[in-house]
Amino acid sequence: MFDVRPLSGSFGAEVIGFTIGENNTAEQVEAVKALWAKHKILLFREQSMDEKVLVDFSRQFGELEIHVRTEYLSPHHPEVLYISNIKDGDRKIGILADTEVGWHYDQIYLPRPAVGSLLCADILPPTGGNTEFADMAAAYQSLPEGTRERLKGCRAIQSYEAFNRAYSVPTNDAQKKRSPDIEHPLVRRHPITGKDALYLCPGMTTEIVGWNATESSEMLEELFEWCVKPEFVYSHQWQAGDAILWDNACTMHRRDPFDQNYQRLMKRTTILPAAHLAVPV
Ligand SMILES: [Fe+2]
Repeated sequence: MFDVRPLSGSFGAEVIGFTIGENNTAEQVEAVKALWAKHKILLFREQSMDEKVLVDFSRQFGELEIHVRTEYLSPHHPEVLYISNIKDGDRKIGILADTEVGWHYDQIYLPRPAVGSLLCADILPPTGGNTEFADMAAAYQSLPEGTRERLKGCRAIQSYEAFNRAYSVPTNDAQKKRSPDIEHPLVRRHPITGKDALYLCPGMTTEIVGWNATESSEMLEELFEWCVKPEFVYSHQWQAGDAILWDNACTMHRRDPFDQNYQRLMKRTTILPAAHLAVPV
């Protein structure tokens, strides 16, 4: 239904000629879903949707998460999270700032981790702030057989607090209660495609459950290094009007820093998997 242009050698595609809007047909949405599952990252250029359209479109891919950081939600649509360095007086309107944000899976620290995110560029600095994505399914498939065997059945601790210490600000007590450290399988079977992917990230994965500390950190370091080899990574340079829908069950991402003298505002919805597929297996 739509033409696509590859974004990198192995994954990601730009969808040509599709405008996210109020009048998208069911057939168009189904076509986008199929492309999303196939390419893992979809780029839509020259979009100009308002927040209601962003929410309504995203909802067709699954239930939407209301982010635990409620202070950074849109005042108009709580399903929309602001990622920004902009201040309204003394109050930051969005999460994160202008510094680097390390590799992570969105919300890997929740019991029902997100399966997708749709991120839209609203205000951009002239340079910097690129977002990189890593194809964790390809990274897993290309691991040596022996390593895949060792990871079979393994679980790891995912910590939002570890991420906040490195890249953000602490949560308050109520938010901490909603996001305690949690265990998930190290290999996540995709709820839609059924393909396995490494489900770990340098920003939030702190240890492999039941391994001694040295073996755990050596294995995690080895995997962290493996996943970000150039053949698994796509770096996106944002343009005004860009929207990216990524598969959050098999790709992780990070962001470059940008000049603090410029404003940047990104708006994101976060898509949940169907409830019966919530716990990764
Ligand atoms: Fe993220």
